[in-house]
Amino acid sequence: MINLTFFDTKEYDRVSFDTYLKDHNLTNISIKYLETKLNADTASLAKGSDGVIAFVNDTIDNVVIDKVIEFGVKAIFLRCAGYNNVDIKYAFSRIHVYRVPAYSPYAVAEFAFAMLQTSNRRIHKAYNRIKDYNFSLVGFTGSDLHSKTVGVIGTGKIGKVFIDIAKGFGMKVLAYDKYPSNIDGVNYVELDELFSKSDYISLHCPLTEENYHMINKSALDKMKKNVIIVNTSRGGLIDAQALLDAIKSRKISGACLDVYEEESDIFFVDKSNHIMDDNILLQLIAMPNVIITSHQAFLTNEALDNIAETTINNVVSFFENNSISENEVCYHCPNMANCKKNRKEKCF
Ligand code: NAI
Repeated sequence: MINLTFFDTKEYDRVSFDTYLKDHNLTNISIKYLETKLNADTASLAKGSDGVIAFVNDTIDNVVIDKVIEFGVKAIFLRCAGYNNVDIKYAFSRIHVYRVPAYSPYAVAEFAFAMLQTSNRRIHKAYNRIKDYNFSLVGFTGSDLHSKTVGVIGTGKIGKVFIDIAKGFGMKVLAYDKYPSNIDGVNYVELDELFSKSDYISLHCPLTEENYHMINKSALDKMKKNVIIVNTSRGGLIDAQALLDAIKSRKISGACLDVYEEESDIFFVDKSNHIMDDNILLQLIAMPNVIITSHQAFLTNEALDNIAETTINNVVSFFENNSISENEVCYHCPNMANCKKNRKEKCF
């Protein structure tokens, strides 16, 4: 029997994982579902498990890694693509870390575009106004997307789908990526040029040490007046205080945030009866031109099914097949030139 402890469980996670195990008759895998997040205080709950299943806002630092190893855990299975919440360098040669590199780039890219257009055409305001039987259109003037320029930062799986959608709207696409690829009709430019020429900017790169707060005061100063910024990647890419200042100075026409740097104890949770302590988030929510969603972009039926399938396949690959997996993450991963898997070796 493979025993797994599942942290930060939501109802929809349980449905997709239980359905997958049942449909595939995987009676040798047992999952203990916990609502709590994985951190130094809760790591002991994994005692006796062979593996843990974790998510974006679990804290997997050196302390947690040492603790889960002490309690017998052999591998950490992230049910997400990003792994910025894991100390990957520390994990190397201590514990194996797997992820779900892609579950539905469409889910995230389509959501990013829905946010962009909601902000651009003020649909969120119209929805509330009509609920109050106010049928006025004053204040709802948007812009045609056709012929406008969208700057896409990160042109991987999600960025590419986002670009396809943008092209469908007849937009011009500027892109920045650390490792540019060849995409029809897309001009790769330096970040400063992307900032200064884009009417809309959408972030689709991972959060790393080098791009932490890439959207800071200096970047915002370079942007066009009335730019709309969309972030469905990771909160830490944006300096939220600098964004708030830019909104207050009327520089920004809209900010669409599916992620927020300090989201870990807030997002995914019903806080409707709580007093919110985070002043920056409070002010952002209060702004008429800010749309915040609670890390929702991934949430489609297709994505949940794919997450369950790939995570369980990762578990089977590690515990039963002992095979080399593309989905194992190690600190070489950001630098594919050093990747052992490219040489058909295991990470360690
Ligand atoms: P991917 O790995 O296919 O593409 C990422 C791209 O970013 C690559 O082309 C890479 O070269 C580029 N990149 C890496 N470092 C960069 C840097 N410093 N500056 C510019 N570009 C850089 O990843 P994918 O699947 O497209 O996902 C992108 C991000 O979306 C993830 O890292 C994750 O943070 C976020 N995400 C958010 C979800 C949500 O529900 N809001 C769900 C899934 C992913």
